[in-house]
Order: sequence, then C-alpha cells, then structure tokens
Amino acid sequence: MSLQDKVVIITGASAGIGHDLAQHLAKEKARLVLAARSEDKLQHLSDQLSAGGTDVLVVRTDVSDPNDLNDLVEQTIDRFQRIDVLINNAGVECFCHFEDVETDEILQTIETNLTGAIVLTRLVVPHMLRQSSGAVINMASTAGKLCPPFGGVYGATKAGLIGFTQGLRGEYLDRGITATAICPGFTKNGGIYDRIVKATGKKTSTALGGTSTKAVAAAVLKAIHAGPPEIIVNWPPMRPAIVLREIFPRIGEMLTTAVSKPFLRRAADMSTQEKNAAATGNSDQPTA
Ligand SMILES: NC(=O)c1ccc[n+]([C@@H]2O[C@H](COP(=O)([O-])OP(=O)(O)OC[C@H]3O[C@@H](n4cnc5c(N)ncnc54)[C@H](OP(=O)(O)O)[C@@H]3O)[C@@H](O)[C@H]2O)c1
Repeated sequence: MSLQDKVVIITGASAGIGHDLAQHLAKEKARLVLAARSEDKLQHLSDQLSAGGTDVLVVRTDVSDPNDLNDLVEQTIDRFQRIDVLINNAGVECFCHFEDVETDEILQTIETNLTGAIVLTRLVVPHMLRQSSGAVINMASTAGKLCPPFGGVYGATKAGLIGFTQGLRGEYLDRGITATAICPGFTKNGGIYDRIVKATGKKTSTALGGTSTKAVAAAVLKAIHAGPPEIIVNWPPMRPAIVLREIFPRIGEMLTTAVSKPFLRRAADMSTQEKNAAATGNSDQPTA
C-alpha cells in the first residue's frame, strides 16, 4: 500500500514512539490524524508537519473514554471521508511491585493499553470494510511475548493486544483488512524505557538489547505495506528466546528473569517511592 494521501490515525502521537512515527509517516505523504490527551503537544507537532506540507487533523482524545473514541472517528470521517490505517499506539507503563499497585492503576492500564485499542478498532473496522481495505497496527511489546517480573499488568495488556490482532486477522484478511502486532523491545531514544533509565540511572542487561523509535517506525511502514502478523523489533533478535521458552518453559523463565529483574526491580522500587511520597506529600522523592 503506497501511503501517498492515505488517512492514518495515530493514537499516542504527542510523545515518544507515536510522535516520531508521525514524522516518518509525514515523509511518506500520508494524511495524519494525531490523537492523545495533550492537545498543546499535538498542536505543536501538527504545526511542524503542516509547515512541511502534510495534511493534519488534531483530535484531543483520551483512549480510555469511549465518547472520545467516537468523536475521534467522527471527526476523521467528516474531514477525510475514509480511514486507511489505524495505529493503536497509546500506552502507559505499569512496572511496579504487584502488591503495591492500586486498583485504579490496574484499570487505567488495561483501559488505555487494551480496551481503548479494541473499542477504537471496533469503530474503525466498518469504514475499512466499506472501502474493502485497511490496516490495523497494534503497538504491543516484547513484554507481551515474554512478560518480565514487575510487569505483569503491563505484559497482560500487551499479550491481550497480540491475541486481539490474531483474531482480527482470521476474521478480516479475506475482506481486505490486515492487522499486525508490533513488539518493540526497550526503545532507547525516547518513550517509556528511556524515561525510566533517566530516572533510575539503571539500564537493562546488554543481553536484552533494545531498539530505537526509527526502527519501530520502519517496522510500522513494513506492517502497512506487507501486513505480516507480527514484527518483533529488537536487536539482538528475540524470537529464539521466545521459542526456547515455548519448548522449555522453566529455562526460558530463568533467562527472562535473570536479564530483566534487576532493572525492573529498580523501576518498581521507584514506583513505590513515588506512591509513598504522594501519600505523605513529600515531593522531594525522585520521579520516573
Ligand atoms: N518505549 C519503549 O521502550 C516501548 C517498548 C515496547 C512497547 N512500547 C509501547 O509503545 C507505545 C508508545 O510508548 P512510548 O514509549 O512512546 O510512551 P510515551 O513516550 O509515554 O508516550 C505514550 C503516548 O501515549 C499517550 N497516552 C497515554 N495515555 C493515553 C490516554 N489515556 N489516551 C490517549 N493517549 C494516551 C501519551 O499522550 P498523552 O499523555 O498526551 O495522552 C503519549 O503520546 C506504548 O503502547 C508502549 O507500551 C514502548
């Protein structure tokens, strides 16, 4: 699929991967719909892209609010009359000691990362069916393939997105709609992981490797053009470890835990410190 004049919705376009992705898609001459809660950041990005000749629509959207999702689709159709690509990228991290996580935080993580993506896709698919074409890209994570310690809630949402993608493909491939799960590893030049590293001063094990927003954008372009089921974006390649875990679950589990636990324990400790600081009103505590 050439992207010239295609209409692409990107959720979570105000920061990190989504922000850089919008810049890459603008170079492909797509027409962009930028969605997130921070309207000022979206407007700033829109101004930049419009100055370069890109047709951009900004829609302030909280993906955990079904009314906002309805509004996002309605405004897109009013302006462009079609939707060619939906990129469900908005997401929040939840790396914490599970015994400390609040119910609200669990629900917000699931509603943002998973329910929002499913509901928005449900609103978009009828338009893609009418066109007999479309691509749904779900920004999952390697955490959805090999869930790390302290990431149970986050990993569950990403595993859910991967399952949802498989279901969509089985149902709609023969009607012209592709669906792809993108699974980035730790992305080192912006976004969730980068912020945790800056806040904790601790990096992941070199054995885990990682990726960049540029590599994730390249994977999204490949997904739009070729519609594969799933792309894992990480160097070194992570699929051998995933296969190993399927064949030898205990050995795979030992490896996943060994390479990710020290880093994510630090992130979880910080999450607990922040909650304690918020509860006692002491804002001198470090923030992630
Ligand atoms: N960075 C990584 O290492 C990494 C690795 C694997 C997968 N991922 C996934 O990649 C995606 C992007 O992550 P990132 O690292 O770029 O994160 P980020 O820098 O924190 O950006 C997250 C984006 O999601 C938006 N968002 C959060 N909650 C939202 C809500 N309720 N409604 C609408 N938008 C919302 C944020 O915008 P507002 O705050 O303005 O709403 C922001 O634009 C996520 O799904 C994440 O799980 C990231």
